Formats: sequence, structure tokens, C-alpha cells
Amino acid sequence: MKSVVDILDLSVKEIDELLDTALDIIDHPAKYAEICRGKKLATLFFEPSTRTRLSFEAAMYELGGNVIGFSSASSTSASKGESVADTAKVISCYADIIAMRHPKEGAPFVAAKNASIPVINAGDGGHHHPTQTLADLLTIKREKGQFSGLTVGFCGDLKFGRTVHSLITALCRYENINFVMISPDELKLPGYVKNEIPQGRGFTYTETTDLEAVMPTLDILYMTRVQQERFTDIDEYLRLRDAYILNPEKLVTAKKDMIILHPLPRVNEISVAVDADPRACYFKQVQNGKYMRMALILKLLNDAKGGKAEDKEQEGTYLYDFKCDNPRCITTTEQELRQVFRVVSPENRICRCIYCDTKKRY
Ligand code: NCD
Repeated sequence: MKSVVDILDLSVKEIDELLDTALDIIDHPAKYAEICRGKKLATLFFEPSTRTRLSFEAAMYELGGNVIGFSSASSTSASKGESVADTAKVISCYADIIAMRHPKEGAPFVAAKNASIPVINAGDGGHHHPTQTLADLLTIKREKGQFSGLTVGFCGDLKFGRTVHSLITALCRYENINFVMISPDELKLPGYVKNEIPQGRGFTYTETTDLEAVMPTLDILYMTRVQQERFTDIDEYLRLRDAYILNPEKLVTAKKDMIILHPLPRVNEISVAVDADPRACYFKQVQNGKYMRMALILKLLNDAKGGKAEDKEQEGTYLYDFKCDNPRCITTTEQELRQVFRVVSPENRICRCIYCDTKKRY
């Protein structure tokens, strides 16, 4: 069963097809209005979300389908101690497709392994958020026409900002992209994402703390919220939350055709005065997110119809004798889940948790 847990679960060709479908949906909504009649999407949201959950729901309704689900863990059997694996098996009896958001990294992966219907990761901890990436890609395609040859600045919480991680991973499959990472030292991009950036193919990578210094070079400025809920030390959050606030004055030196993206919700990192700037594209991004989710639901339901079983196991050497050190990893709460690490660099004796991607030396 094909699921989308990581943006890499979709090939570049599949992403291109999803972009084409979304553009077709925009042009011919009536063609799609009944296409999922009789199908049910289950939205399993163990963590708060407004936009992503409602976007999935709106997407399914606009395809003529129905939606069941919940929007907080407290109202579910998880609060009685039910495992993610069991929840996935149960929901497979009720619905045709699952969209899951969970605070634990790797939870949708566990769900995908146990469900008999497709699972879409709607955000797992600070890890991945592939459907936000699809929204980002459609916005970039519609506004800039291409993915290659751009200078893309990511600003804010690059450590916990899962949308940043998924978008970088997606863009790394194109070419000639200059990544400019703008963050306080404490919120720099994690090594496992940085290591994915190709050494060749025209990629460059710069880290800075100074947004204004790099502003004139950017084609895209991707702002992010400092992710309060992922901090263990609240004082550190309070110290870092106002590190970058984008306002009209700071945009004076930006290119006239730069676009400003933000996955939303914003707190204060983009001042409201910026909304009137034609370069502000974050509300268009929201709209595009719904179209891409429609395209994805459609694709996964069609693939499932074909009944083709998808082998999610990657080839490689696996180790089973370690414990994952990441406190946000799903293995810390799923009692029966077997720890599994995949060897990623035998020469440096490094392996990676298959659920949350945390690396470990062995
Ligand atoms: C983002 C998320 O959930 O990671 N929001 C979203 O998908 N619309 C960003 C955030 O919460 O800051």
C-alpha cells in the first residue's frame, strides 16, 4: 500500500504529476467534484492543527468524499493507552485513507506499516511534513515557474521546523539551488537534513545569523515560527522567539520579484504590515495546500485501487540492539515497537533510527 510519510516517498515524476493534477483541479473543479463519492478520509490529529486538518477535510469534501476523525489525542483511545499500530489497524476497517498528525517522530511511519489503507503524514514532531511541502512546491511553481536556479533563504527555527526539513529534502532533487540558512546558532538546521544537500549539481549552502545581509540575494524567503512546543527549556524559547521579525523596512533591499513564504501559523515573525506587499505569498500557499492535498488523496486512492503492495523496507544492514536517544521518537512511547537502526555509514560506524532518523554511533 503506498503511503506518504516522507516527501521522498514520492518520486520527482510523481510530484510533477501531482502538480499537474492540482493545476487541472484549479482550472476544472467541476471535473473533480464527485470523484471520491463514497470514500472516507480519516483525519487522526493527535496534536493541534487548524490549517492542515481543515485543509485535508476541505480537500476531501471538494472531491465529493466524506471525513471522519478527531482533532486531539485526549478524545481518543490513545489516552487509554492504545498504540499507534492498533489505531491504524482499527481505522483501516472504517476509512479508505488516513491523514495523521502526531507529536512523536515516526508515528505515521508506524501507522503506515500497520494500516491496510494509505497513510499520509500530516506532521510528526519536528521531523517531516510532506503535504506542506507539496503546498510550498505548487506555490513556487505558480509564482516562480521553476525549482532550479533559485536562491532560497530559510529563516527562523530551522532546528524544529519540520516544514523546512521536508522542503529542503524535496528541493535537493532539482539542481542549481543556493540554500541560505538564517537562524540563531541554537536553532540551526539538524545535521541529518544538512547532509542530504548534494555536494555537486550546482548546490551551495550558507549559514548566517544576519537576515538583512543576505536579503538582496534571495528569490524566496521562507519564514518560520519558533516552535515553542518542541522546546524543553522555556527560557531558551523566550530568548529566541523574537530573533527575526520581518517588516516592510527590512524588505526594502529585497528583490522586486522575491516571494515570501510561511507555512503559518505566524506568531510575530512577519509583521501584519507585510501582508499588503505583493511579494507576500503565504495566504496563496494555504490555498495551494488544499489543491495539492486533493491531488494526493486522489492519487493514493487510485494507487490503492490497483492493490499494488508497496515494499517500504529499504535494502541495507539493520541493527536491533540499540535504543533511540531522541525523546520525541515514537519508540519512546510504543511499548512493543522494536528498535531498528539502519547502517548509513559503515566507515564511520553510523546508523540511523528508521522511525525518527536520529543518528547514532555503533
Ligand atoms: C506548520 C507545522 O504544522 O509544522 N504549520 C502548518 O503545517 N500549517 C508550521 C508551524 O506549526 O509552525
